[in-house]
Amino acid sequence: MAFIPEHLVEEVRQASEIVDVVSEYVTLKKRGQNYFGLCPFHAEKTGSFSVHPDKQIFHCFGCGAGGNVFTFIMKETGVSFPEAVRILAKRAGIAIPEPDELDGGSQEREALFYACELAADFFVQRLWSPEGEKARAYLEQREFREKDIRDFGLGYAPAEWSALHDYALSKGMKADVLQKAGLLNKRDSGGFYDRFRDRLMFPIYNLSGKVIAFGGRKLNGDDSVPKYVNSPETDIYHKSNVLYGLFQARDHIRDAKVAVFVEGYTDVMRLVSEGFRNTVATSGTALTELQARLIRRYTDRVVMLYDSDTAGAAATMRGADVLVEQGVDVRVGELEEGEDPDSFLRKYGADALQQRLAYALPLLDYKTRSLPHLRGKEAYAEKLHSLIATLSRIQDGVERQEKIHFYAEKMKIDEEMLWDEVRRLRKLQRSRRAGEQRRRDAGATSIMLPAGKSSYADKSRVVEEELVRIMIQNHETVAFIRSFMQVTDFYHDSYRMIASLLYELDENNVRLEPEDLIHYFADQEAGEFVSKVVLHEPRFEGITQDDYRRAADCLAKLQRLMLETRIDELREQIRDREKSGGDSSELATELYELTMQRKQIKAENFIVE
Ligand code: CTP
Ligand code: MN
Repeated sequence: MAFIPEHLVEEVRQASEIVDVVSEYVTLKKRGQNYFGLCPFHAEKTGSFSVHPDKQIFHCFGCGAGGNVFTFIMKETGVSFPEAVRILAKRAGIAIPEPDELDGGSQEREALFYACELAADFFVQRLWSPEGEKARAYLEQREFREKDIRDFGLGYAPAEWSALHDYALSKGMKADVLQKAGLLNKRDSGGFYDRFRDRLMFPIYNLSGKVIAFGGRKLNGDDSVPKYVNSPETDIYHKSNVLYGLFQARDHIRDAKVAVFVEGYTDVMRLVSEGFRNTVATSGTALTELQARLIRRYTDRVVMLYDSDTAGAAATMRGADVLVEQGVDVRVGELEEGEDPDSFLRKYGADALQQRLAYALPLLDYKTRSLPHLRGKEAYAEKLHSLIATLSRIQDGVERQEKIHFYAEKMKIDEEMLWDEVRRLRKLQRSRRAGEQRRRDAGATSIMLPAGKSSYADKSRVVEEELVRIMIQNHETVAFIRSFMQVTDFYHDSYRMIASLLYELDENNVRLEPEDLIHYFADQEAGEFVSKVVLHEPRFEGITQDDYRRAADCLAKLQRLMLETRIDELREQIRDREKSGGDSSELATELYELTMQRKQIKAENFIVE
């Protein structure tokens, strides 16, 4: 998303009287200085929602939502910050240059978004043209309604080698951009051809509602071609970070307080069509930590409703533990053998599916269901292991303890044995993580945190804040900062949480728009900080060259702070030791070394080549 020059943002802000703007969405009544109405962001019967013209802000006493006119539009319409500015600019008749007129590094990504949008339009147009007859007949035979087809933006990629290619070039797009967007393939002999041919096209949206990729389903039973052809990873599409349908489903997930996870695009379309609007798909790949974090922002409950075959069951098992690890309460819904959610709905109807969801088994019950019958058989060990795997992933200690006790009793398993195994697994997981961290941070000069020093806590806060801010503003600094500081080196919980996400994204080569980061934080403090930086501390292209310098300063400051805290600690210990007549020479040596180190440390140590 292109950044919009600050003076334009300011101009739009001034032209958008908050009372007028909000009134277009909410009926407001004046009381005293301020205006009140029913909050559009949560269900309520009393008007807790207020607009304050003097401060140009809104606030809801009921759900805590609040912000300025831009935040209001973002929340109300689900768009990103620059888009909110554009909406309000349009309303106020202020011209904002189109992305390609703005300069800077995000222009290239902007071009990819544009290419995908163009392609999505093209595919839709083809679907509803005579050429799309075959695809429409296919959809009809599967009993998909026109409304759903249009809502999901389905399209048809013609059975030609350069239909999209020619169309896009006629619109002034360049072939290499289309290729970078994953829409064209390159020929060995030079030149390009359409990646998607003769396929039903499912556009994939990001959380700002932009098309970033496609899944293309074949229309015939021809076994010699793959069922789906998907977009490759691109600068704007990272599979590990997408849940299909989340952009449309997220408000429903929040309202329903639960998400339904299915495997396929078609399942999402069918369930949404039948009123299960809180449905998203994992698209047939293993669930990732990023996806689990993403859903955790909207709900802490998930019902997994995977295809009822062995592959589906296996995928359920793998994905479930990833969710558990992020603190999600997972249930497993079951369908008749051989059915997927789409076929089940068609056969048995919405009420039957509702039942299946309502009776979905808690993951651990699902896993232990067959255990008693398997005693003495070979499969017993495998099932037991699967139970232990889930137990070990429960992050909350109290909950873990309760569950271990409960299932030991229920399944007549020796509780001590369960405990030992869970402990062993947790240790393994920890050391694996540490190992990964070490490998990632090979060569990192990790800094030892002084234990429980409040002076350190106080003084380091602003520095950690600044470090996190720099990383949010300029993702390129993440790798640099990561090479000096591990996640655990962040002292303050919210900054550590943010850093951990940014590191995770960096490691997966996922590049997000800063405003999309907001979607990841269930933790309020962390989320608010990220929003603050992204929304209220706008930055513009071309001022990033200072970021490494800023980061280096912060790292040097933290290093010094740690040394100083440790030096203070040592001095105290030496005093105590001498008072009690003990030998303090070892401590004194350490103190001397640290004092020398402190002398040497200068910000220059961190200067980047
Ligand atoms: N998938 C894929 N490539 C394949 C097969 C499957 O990417 N060759 C992904 C798709 O995202 C698909 C999901 O896995 O939506 C589930 O696969 P499947 O159940 O085979 O497809 P459905 O979308 O359910 O299609 P249909 O209902 O037509 O069988
Ligand atoms: Mn399926």
